[in-house]
Amino acid sequence: MNTSLRASHRPLRAAVVGSGAISKEHLTFLSGRSQAAGDVTGRIELAAVCDLSPVAADYGATEFGAGRAYTDITEMLKAEDLDVVHILTPPASHVTLATLCLEAGANVICEKPITSSAADLEQLLGVAQRCNRAIMESHNYRFNDGYLTVREALDAGRLGDLTEVEIRICLPVTDPDGRFGDPNLPSPIHRMPAGVLHDFTTHFAYLLLGLTGDVKFNRVAAAWSNHRGVAHFRYDDLDALLIGEGPTGPVHGRLRFDAGSAPDAFSLTARGSRGWMETDFFQPHLRTVIPRPGGAQLSPIVNHVANGLGLVRDGVTNFGRKLLQQTPYHGLHRMLDETYGALADGAPLPVSPGDMLAAARLVDQLLDDEVRL
Ligand SMILES: NC(=O)c1ccc[n+]([C@@H]2O[C@H](COP(=O)([O-])OP(=O)(O)OC[C@H]3O[C@@H](n4cnc5c(N)ncnc54)[C@H](O)[C@@H]3O)[C@@H](O)[C@H]2O)c1
Repeated sequence: MNTSLRASHRPLRAAVVGSGAISKEHLTFLSGRSQAAGDVTGRIELAAVCDLSPVAADYGATEFGAGRAYTDITEMLKAEDLDVVHILTPPASHVTLATLCLEAGANVICEKPITSSAADLEQLLGVAQRCNRAIMESHNYRFNDGYLTVREALDAGRLGDLTEVEIRICLPVTDPDGRFGDPNLPSPIHRMPAGVLHDFTTHFAYLLLGLTGDVKFNRVAAAWSNHRGVAHFRYDDLDALLIGEGPTGPVHGRLRFDAGSAPDAFSLTARGSRGWMETDFFQPHLRTVIPRPGGAQLSPIVNHVANGLGLVRDGVTNFGRKLLQQTPYHGLHRMLDETYGALADGAPLPVSPGDMLAAARLVDQLLDDEVRL
């Protein structure tokens, strides 16, 4: 997209397709109620909400003050002159819906995984190019405070040369009371190549690639398992090891999805030649172990004291977030804010086609028969 939308001096007209679980975050942002992004109503107009379910469409539109509710995207695209459409439907529908929006002249922000393969993504990017419109996949955790702090520490050399990144998600996805586990109402995500785990692989891929940059992972092994043997699940566990060569030496990546361990976690640890840092997106905290004033003798003690105080501070902050019912999605709001700023200015979007393709190719690689353990 190379034309600035701000030149029109009117708020960008936006719509949401899919008024399910994640739409609450997008609609909170679009309706100007985001604590992370503030009031955006002067520059964005929430024109419409569309869902196959009339109840869901009406709820989204009424609750968040959208102009109209629709149950048919084609009708919506015909009736509304939209600048941006947020596609928040199950992944198998993304390509069809995104193509309709691009061809109708709208830019697209699409939830992850945008496609089920890198080849499909290449085709979709071709459609966007042909229509001279932008399309962007949500890489939201790359905009969370914890990730940004780790990224800054690596960039500033505080951890030394990067040696290892470990990303771990613990979630009881097979729980029959949960959104994926109900055998009578199976989620459409079960049909993706990695089944339910496909819902999480994009997060793994963009977070790893975001921290490892130029590293080429030429040794990859991935164990996909169905440890609990739940019939409608392809897999409930992933243990992947990636080894590559970075500018300063070897770098290891470890991606772990674990449905059996508690409590829920989404942790990220980056290790370097000087020290390491750890954060968690679900229970935000930061632990930093680096050389401190006082040399090798005192550093462990200073690290313990500094991290202890930090954990108490993070604990109090998390308690406050719980009381205010805040979710781990402040990064998503920040990402949307940056995206609308870039769209208005005709600037590159914060998640580039290159970022999206790299993530999709890594997910393909993890699923390749050749790397399976
Ligand atoms: N970025 C994140 O952290 C994050 C978190 C949760 C979900 N997601 C992603 O968001 C997407 C949606 O997930 P969800 O949990 O909100 O799903 P959901 O099942 O709660 O909601 C999907 C909604 O889309 C509607 N829908 C389906 N097909 C449609 C169509 N053709 N036209 C209009 N509406 C349609 C359904 O009726 C439903 O209301 C998935 O791709 C998921 O992976 C991302």
